[in-house]
Amino acid sequence: MKQGEPKTIYLQDYTAPAYRVDAVSLVFELGEDATRVTSVANYRRASGVAADAPLELFGENLELLEIRLNGLPLTATDYSVSDTGMSIPNVSALCTLEIVTRIYPQKNTSLEGLYQTSGNFCTQCEAQGFRKITYYPDRPDVMTVFTTQILADKQKYPVLLSNGNLTGSGDLADGRHWARWEDPFQKPAYLFALVAGNLQHVEDHYTTLSGRDVTLRIYTEAHNIDKCDHAMQSLKRAMHWDEQRFGLEYDLDIYMIVAVDDFNMGAMENKGLNVFNSKLVFASPATATDMDYVSIEAVIGHEYFHNWTGNRVTCRDWFQLSLKEGLTVFRDQEFTSDLHSRSVKRIEDVRMLRTHQFAEDASPMAHPIRPSSYMEINNFYTVTVYEKGAEVVRMYQTLLGRDGFRKGMDLYFQRHDGHAVSTENFLAAMADANAADLSQFQRWYDQAGTPDVAVRMAYDAAAQTCTLHFTQTCPATPEAAVKSPFLIPIEVGLLNSHGQDMLGTQVLRLTEAEQTFSFSDVPEQPVPSLLRGFSAPVKLSYPYTAADLVFLMKHDSDAFNRWDAGQRLAMQTILSLLAAHQQQEAFGLEHDFISAYQAILTDATLDHALRAEALTLPSEADIAERARPSDPEAIHTVREFIHATLAKALRLDLETLYADLHAQGQGDYSPDAASIGRRSLKNVCLAYLGRIQDDSIHETCLQQYMTAGNMTDAMAALSVLSRIECPQREVALQHFHDRWQHDALVMDKWFALQATSSLPDTLQQVQGLMQHPLFDLRNPNKVRALVGSFAMRNPLHFHAPDGSGYAFLTDRVLELDAMNPQIASRMVRPLMNWRQYETIRSGLMKAQLERIQTHAGLSGDVYEIVSKSLV
Ligand code: TRP
Ligand code: ZN
Repeated sequence: MKQGEPKTIYLQDYTAPAYRVDAVSLVFELGEDATRVTSVANYRRASGVAADAPLELFGENLELLEIRLNGLPLTATDYSVSDTGMSIPNVSALCTLEIVTRIYPQKNTSLEGLYQTSGNFCTQCEAQGFRKITYYPDRPDVMTVFTTQILADKQKYPVLLSNGNLTGSGDLADGRHWARWEDPFQKPAYLFALVAGNLQHVEDHYTTLSGRDVTLRIYTEAHNIDKCDHAMQSLKRAMHWDEQRFGLEYDLDIYMIVAVDDFNMGAMENKGLNVFNSKLVFASPATATDMDYVSIEAVIGHEYFHNWTGNRVTCRDWFQLSLKEGLTVFRDQEFTSDLHSRSVKRIEDVRMLRTHQFAEDASPMAHPIRPSSYMEINNFYTVTVYEKGAEVVRMYQTLLGRDGFRKGMDLYFQRHDGHAVSTENFLAAMADANAADLSQFQRWYDQAGTPDVAVRMAYDAAAQTCTLHFTQTCPATPEAAVKSPFLIPIEVGLLNSHGQDMLGTQVLRLTEAEQTFSFSDVPEQPVPSLLRGFSAPVKLSYPYTAADLVFLMKHDSDAFNRWDAGQRLAMQTILSLLAAHQQQEAFGLEHDFISAYQAILTDATLDHALRAEALTLPSEADIAERARPSDPEAIHTVREFIHATLAKALRLDLETLYADLHAQGQGDYSPDAASIGRRSLKNVCLAYLGRIQDDSIHETCLQQYMTAGNMTDAMAALSVLSRIECPQREVALQHFHDRWQHDALVMDKWFALQATSSLPDTLQQVQGLMQHPLFDLRNPNKVRALVGSFAMRNPLHFHAPDGSGYAFLTDRVLELDAMNPQIASRMVRPLMNWRQYETIRSGLMKAQLERIQTHAGLSGDVYEIVSKSLV
C-alpha cells in the first residue's frame, strides 16, 4: 500500500478552513515532456482564527520549482512539504502566494489531475485531482474565482478551453498561442477544468427564460463530429426542463461539453466546461442503441442540473457527496420521467437499485448515504450515495407533495446560493418551507442497511374495517449493530374483488418499529397494493398467494406494482425450483405461471415497454441476493429452465408477436418512447425464442442482425446468437468485427457481448480478447467492457467452481492498480461479497482477496476495499 496504511478520515473531525482564497490565477505552459503550472493565490485568514495558524495546502506528485510569499522567495525552512501537501507556518492575515510546479501529464495514467487522452490535454479534478496540479487548499468549502491562462503549441493544440468566459487570446512568437479564461462564479477547485487539443465543435444556441443568449458547444475529435446532434438536443431539453420544473436558469454566456475517450467515470460537471466520456455523447442510429440514446440524454441532463445542485450550491466536505449527487440523480430521473414513460423509468431505476444498491447495503462496504468515515473518497462514488441518495430525495417529495418539495428547493437556493453546505441544510430547507417536523428523517442519512418492512392484514367484515400491521427492522451494518426506526412513506391502495381501488392511494407515515393503520368503510376483504411506485428504498414482504399476485398483475392501478407483482411471482417460482434443484428433485412450471406470462404476451391493450419489463425475469444477480448461500451455477440452470420452458410453451404467441412488431418497425429510426418500447418487446420475444434449439430461429436472428436498420436491433440479435453454439454466431460476430473495427465505442459492445456469453469456453475467449489489437488496459471503457462485463455480468463463469474466474480478475486488478487505482478499485468489488457464496467458492474468493492485500505497493483505493472485505 502507499506510504504505509492509508489514513481514515472522519466526518466528526471536520473543521472550517483557516484561510479563504479571494482569487486565484493559474498559468499553464503545456509541453511535450512536462507542463509548468504557475499559481498566484490571495489568501485571507478567516475571522476568529489564531494569528499563528499555518496555511495548509494539499499537493501530490508535484515538483516544486519556485515559491514566493508576498513577492519574496521562501527558503526550505520557511515551510514544510510532505507526500500529501505543504504547510506554511508564518503568514500574514492577507497574503499572496506564488507557486510554480512541474507536472507530467503525458505520464499520468491515473486519469486524475491533468492528463492526456488521444493526444489532447484534459483535467479531472473531482474529488481530489486539483492537488495533482498545484499546491492548493483543495477542499470543497474553499471557493473562489479562477482566472486561467493556457499556453501551448498552436499546431498541436489549436483549441484552449477553461471555465467561464474567454477574455483574451493571441499568438506567441515561438509557434505557441495563448488564451485567458475568467470564471466569475466562486467555485471549489474540484470544478476547475482545462482542455487543450485538436478538436472540432458543433454549435447551437439557447435563450433562457429571462432572455440570456447562451452559446452551446460540443467539442470532439473530427471523426465523431457527425454524432453530436442527439447530445445537443438533449442539452436544450435539459435547459428548458429545469426552467419549467424548478425555475432554474443557466448563468453564463457559454456552455461547453468536451467528449474524451479515456475517462474514469461517466461525465463531470465542471463549471461551464463539462467533460464527458465519449460513450455518453456520440449517437447515431447505426452505432448507438436505444439504451445509449436514453442514457446520453439522462447524463447530459445530470451534468447540466449540477450547475445548480452541486456548483451554485456545493458540498461543505466530501461526506456530503449525496447532497449534490443524490439530488442531481433525482432531478435527472424526473427529467427522463417527464420526457418519456414515468412507469418504465421507475421500473428500470428500481431494478438497478435492488440489484446493485441492496447488494452494496448487504456487503462489507455498506455505508449510509452520508458516510461517517472513509479512507479514499473515490471509493464512495457509489450506488448508495447516488441511487439510494436519489430515493431519499424522492421520499421528501412523496411526504411533502410536489408543491411542498418545490417550496423546499426554492428555500434551499435562497438560503445557500454561493455556499458550501451539508445535508442537514437541505433537510432544514425542506422542513422549514413546509413547516414540517422531519427530524426523524435524518436517520436516512446516518444509518446504512436496507430496512425490512413486514406487513400483515386483518379484515373485519362486520365492522367493515381493515387494518394493516407493519413492523420495520434493519440489519446490522459495519457502522452500527442496532438501528433506530426510519420515517418511511408507504403508499398503499386496497383493491376490491373487481380489482378497483377502494380508497385511492394513501401515503402512510411509518415511524415506529411496529405500527398499525386502520381503514374504515371497507366493504369487502381487499387485496392490498403496498409500497406503490416503490415509495421507499425498503424490502417489503407480505404473505401474498400466487393468486393474489396474478390478480395484482392484472388489476393494480399502479403500473409499478403491476410489474412488481410479476417479479414477486417469478421470484417465488425461482426460489422453489432452486430448492427442488438442490434436492435433486425433478421440477416443472405450474400451468398458472405459464398462463400469467401468456396473458402479458397476448394483451394488446398493454403498453409495449411495460409488457417487455413484465416478461423480463429477475436477473441472476437478483436471485443470488435472495438465495443464500448462492450457487451461481444452480441459479443459471433454473433461470434458463424457466426461459426455455416458457419459450417452448408460448412459441406460437412469441413468433406471432415478434413478426408483428418486426413488420411495424421498418420505418426510419427514432428514439421516442413508443418506438423504444416496440423494439424492446420485439427483442424480448426474440431472446425467449433463442432459448429453443432450432436452426430456423438462429436464421431469424442472423436475418435480423444482417438487415437491422439500427444498432438496437443488430445488438439484440447478436446478443441472442452470442449465447448459442451455432454457425450463425460466428458469421455475425465476425461481420460485426469487420464492420466496426474502426469505431472504438462500437467495439466495446463486441468485447462486452463475448465476455457475457454463457458458452463453456468464455474465460478462454476473454483471455484471448485481452490480446486483441484493439484492447487496451489503459482505457477504462475497454476494461469495463471486457473485464468488468465478465466479472459483473457473467456470474456463471466468473464463479466457475475451479476459481479460474477469480484468479483472472485478481491478475487484472493488480495490473490495473499500478496504472489506475480508481479503475482497479471498481474492478475488485465482485470479490467483496465472498461471504454470500457456498463454501468452496467463498474460500477461493477470500484467497484471492488475501493475495491482493499482501501485494507490494498496493494503492490506498484497492487497500480500502480489500481490507474492509476481509474483516
Ligand atoms: N461528479 C461526477 C458526476 O456527475 C462524477 C465524476 C466524474 C467523478 N468523474 C469523476 C467522481 C472522477 C470521482 C472521480 O456524477
Ligand atoms: Zn453527478
